[in-house]
Amino acid sequence: MGGDTMDTVEQLRAELLAAAAAAADLKALDDVRVAALGKKGRITGLMKGLGQMDPDARKAAGQALNVLKEEVAAALDARKNALDAVALDARLSEERVDVTLPARPESLGAIHPISQTIDEVIAIFGEMGFTVAEGPDIEDDWYNFTSLNIPREHPARQEHDTFYLPNETVGPDGVPGRVVLRTHTSPVQIRTMLSNKPPVRIIVPGRTYRCDYDATHSPMFHQVEGLMIDEKTHMGHLKGALIDFCRAFFEVDDLPVRFRPSYFPFTEPSAEVDIGCTREGGQFRIGHGDDWLEILGCGMVNPKVLENCGIDPAKYQGYAFGMGVERLAMLKYGIPDLRTFFESDLRWLRHYGFSSLDVPAMVGGLSI
Ligand code: DAH
Repeated sequence: MGGDTMDTVEQLRAELLAAAAAAADLKALDDVRVAALGKKGRITGLMKGLGQMDPDARKAAGQALNVLKEEVAAALDARKNALDAVALDARLSEERVDVTLPARPESLGAIHPISQTIDEVIAIFGEMGFTVAEGPDIEDDWYNFTSLNIPREHPARQEHDTFYLPNETVGPDGVPGRVVLRTHTSPVQIRTMLSNKPPVRIIVPGRTYRCDYDATHSPMFHQVEGLMIDEKTHMGHLKGALIDFCRAFFEVDDLPVRFRPSYFPFTEPSAEVDIGCTREGGQFRIGHGDDWLEILGCGMVNPKVLENCGIDPAKYQGYAFGMGVERLAMLKYGIPDLRTFFESDLRWLRHYGFSSLDVPAMVGGLSI
């Protein structure tokens, strides 16, 4: 082999280094490695031939082949590093995250129609100068009933299908009574009048509970209560505020509204408010028509209720009202079954829900 081997080594060096440098990807580079250093590779082949050489030639050729082997291995390594760096750059630019983009997916999540309806009611009465008040869901008998002129044994207590808790408390009247889940938001009237001097102008959204469950009743539901107490407040103010409310809420400027005499222990006189509608089959259309839908209860605060709160009924008077939030939402947004409000079905929520960016306000249309 002798000088021939040296020539071959030189040629092979040039060829293999060029092939390594030219490999376009890791696969091509591995092919070069196998062709040079694999079991049947060319350098491996030459090394196998060393055995047949005479000692001097073998030594020289062996050294030359070892050097070649290292050079080729180093060239393969260098090329691999270069290809890895290119691949990493490509991946980094492909997977680049632009942290200045808005969060995505953008429109996940929706405002529940109950929250939307409460926000709309607050927006309307807020504009009239009412502020939001809240009270506890777990209430004493006295606040939920007695103070509101619903004495023990009064038939109205039965109508409330009350959830009673095992505890008893003694009310401000000194009489012990059961603790209840509040059956309406009206006890917050009492709490507010006991802790604030008139004038009072509050709106009270909140959860209420009654032991009842079907397509139009849920054991937990929502009400909004309203209370206005001042020295000269009269039934005309009540009518004006509630007519304006109905028209603003249903977004019908000339919506017919009527006040029908009714009875509530905590108001005298009392009325129920109906709005005009048309009935087509089982469906309602709010607006002009020859039919009426009841939407809330109201009245002038009973002097006995004022007295229970230490307010002089000879000096102060006012009005109160209460409405069911689910019912308002069902009528306005055409939601047919009350139970669906509480099923947490995402498909329902996506359909009936509202964008969190559309905050209800009287400026610019309530729900648009
Ligand atoms: N509390 C009544 C109910 O749950 C609703 C109501 C009616 C509240 C008339 C009032 C009112 O403040 O004046 O059915």
